[in-house]
Amino acid sequence: MRTIDWDYKKNSITMTDQTLLPGEYKVIECSTVDSLCEAIKRLRVRGAPALGAAGGFGIALAAFKSNASSLNELMDDIENAGKTIIATRPTAVNLSWSVNRVISAVEDARNIKEARMFILDEAKAIADEDVEKNMRLGEYGASLLEDGDTVMTHCNAGRLACVDWGTALGVIRSARAEGKDIKVISCETRPLNQGSRITTWELVQDKIPVTLITDSMSGHVMRKGMVDKVIVGADRITQDAVFNKIGTYTHAVLAKEHDIPFYVAAPVSTFDFERMEDEIEIELRDPGEMRYFGSHQIAPLDVEVYNPAFDATPMEYVSAIITENGIFYPPFLIDEVRI
Ligand code: MRU
Repeated sequence: MRTIDWDYKKNSITMTDQTLLPGEYKVIECSTVDSLCEAIKRLRVRGAPALGAAGGFGIALAAFKSNASSLNELMDDIENAGKTIIATRPTAVNLSWSVNRVISAVEDARNIKEARMFILDEAKAIADEDVEKNMRLGEYGASLLEDGDTVMTHCNAGRLACVDWGTALGVIRSARAEGKDIKVISCETRPLNQGSRITTWELVQDKIPVTLITDSMSGHVMRKGMVDKVIVGADRITQDAVFNKIGTYTHAVLAKEHDIPFYVAAPVSTFDFERMEDEIEIELRDPGEMRYFGSHQIAPLDVEVYNPAFDATPMEYVSAIITENGIFYPPFLIDEVRI
């Protein structure tokens, strides 16, 4: 089952509701752009490549639900929907990348029917390509792992963060498929616990040995010699930094201190090499995510809260970037990556 897909009978989006995991596995339907935006903001669908697919399908949703009576009116509707969808989460570049790619597909359309068809084909292609790219990326990345390695990861860069297979977890899956004995240490990933709720759930399903730690234990386990490699995903890769889930930078600095390779696994669509770290907005999330744990209050309700969803890891901490086009090493030249 894919994390996110298009229902051709209903012309709507289906997706796994990731907020319910690990307690409940439920597929929900989004039949309006508003319900898709709510699902993105609430992280029912999350992870940069899955957001890429959501953006593309979101434009398809806008096109199919539009009452436009001319191609120009349809363009206005999908462009407005695109702006609303992109605004839901500013850091993951895949969202704007897919929205713009799908909108561009309308260029040669001669009428509304054709435009809808082109849009849906392009959105579906983004989702299909994601699976194929992750499989290729996984095979490249598997060459970096040795039999017996323990890999630490942060957040969830698995099949639920993508359409299928995963990036960081895709590398681990591919290495396991090659017969290598790989174990995983998953950081819980406060405050929304994507590591403990989703990464461990995925790995337990696949019978891949995984040990859960809190984020603050990473230095300790590295110092104890319990980690051979760190692999994380990415939400955006600028010329000078890798943006990923808050806490990633801490693990990268600790990995360097302990001579542990720190790998980033991401499709080329995550690269934004035209920009530098300073130009990127880091999403700030609701303080309630830190004042409560689920429905349980864990901080005074009037305490000041700082809740950035992502951090930036400077390139000097990155040992290699694993993409569907191969593995890239410093100084990470964009012309090599976009072959
Ligand atoms: O806030 P989230 O859960 O969407 O953050 C996700 C991450 O930071 C992932 O590591 C990243 O998107 C890569 S997913 C292949």
